[in-house]
Amino acid sequence: MNNFTYQIPTEVYFGKGQIGHLAESILKFGRKVLLVYGGESIKRTGLYQTIRTIFEQNGIESFELAGVEPNPRIDTVRKGIQLCRQNDVDVVLAVGGGSTIDCSKVVSAGVKYNGDAWDLVKDGSLIKDTLPMIVILTIAATGSEMNRYAVISDMSTNDKMGTFSPLFYPKVSILDPEYTFTVPKNQTSSGTADIMSHIMERYFHNAKGTYIQDRLSESLLKTCIHYGPIAYNEPENYEARANLMWASSLAIDGITWRGNSVASSAHPMEHQLSAYHDITHGVGLAIIIPHWMKHILNDKTVGKFVDFGVNVWDIDPSLDSFEIASKAIEKSKEFFASLDLPATLREVGVTDKYLDVMAEKAAVGLENAFYPLTSKDVLAIYKESL
Ligand code: NZQ
Ligand code: ZN
Repeated sequence: MNNFTYQIPTEVYFGKGQIGHLAESILKFGRKVLLVYGGESIKRTGLYQTIRTIFEQNGIESFELAGVEPNPRIDTVRKGIQLCRQNDVDVVLAVGGGSTIDCSKVVSAGVKYNGDAWDLVKDGSLIKDTLPMIVILTIAATGSEMNRYAVISDMSTNDKMGTFSPLFYPKVSILDPEYTFTVPKNQTSSGTADIMSHIMERYFHNAKGTYIQDRLSESLLKTCIHYGPIAYNEPENYEARANLMWASSLAIDGITWRGNSVASSAHPMEHQLSAYHDITHGVGLAIIIPHWMKHILNDKTVGKFVDFGVNVWDIDPSLDSFEIASKAIEKSKEFFASLDLPATLREVGVTDKYLDVMAEKAAVGLENAFYPLTSKDVLAIYKESL
């Protein structure tokens, strides 16, 4: 196990009714709030009205950044920064999923930065100060509610980039699984695939002696395999939604990969798919992952696949190593299919048109992956996924 530091400064209020902590959380930082949300979902569910009532009862003044897109755009971030500056906002409140939270993170940093917000997307080390940010999560997927990452797109240049800063951790996250009862089936599936991918991509690593990280990863994966289909079939099953929600936060806060860190492989490939074709993040991952796995399976990597097959997919350990590995990859693919996730890129409108340039962009940094990949490898994986 390698040396590491681990600090999660986010205060988490998990469970039914935890929105009762919203007012006190905001008022620690001030009275003027920028409320950030996506489309109409929070109005349909009634959450918007609940929040407005809390504001009125507690003398909280609010301004709104509405319409944050799935795969949030830099232009929306710029609008949010302007609203904060014009109204002297004290706190940013993100209500939604990863897109709304990521947009809010970069808004909170952009307000304090003397330059264009895209600079902060390209280089998180420029972030020296932020407005405090609070989250009310409505979908289990990205883990943005308890991590230091943000992913923003500039569709005019086909760039979707991840940035990070220790200042991006939300001050408070309210995680009420009941808010995810209304997440549509396709987003429940893609969210589950996203959570699993955050764990899987780091589970395949080269460090030795990381028993605890490996077993934690396996139990998180088993949680998704068990509860993903339940949430898909019974949207109002609290136990399933609660377990997926907490899995989403733990999958990417670093607890499973501190001490065994490697670069993610499928995520950079997916980000290019979204940048050029604006597809749903978790859908792209579910398509790419089995092909990435097949591509990197060889004598050097098979041992890790055996752990994955036996400990996650309960495959008979007495089988030949490559047989276990192949079955594990097949089971991963079947699981995603069981949640009605597409299995090919063509199904989501991707053609071979931009694959070369996407492969070049995605391969940057993949020399540090579990199994190093070049742009040629990435191109091959894209083609195999078509
Ligand atoms: O916009 P609204 O109307 O709210 O609808 C959203 C949206 O259409 C809907 N939704 C969310 N909660 C709902 C709901 N509909 C009904 N009831 C609810 N309770 O779901 C749709 C998707 O929302 P979005 O926020 O885009 O989903 P997700 O959380 O999957 O976020 C995806 C974004 O996060 C990035 C992805 O690349 C993508 O841009 N990621 C962020 C990461 C991070 N910050 O750590 C890591 C991830 O790997 C990922 O890259
Ligand atoms: Zn992801």
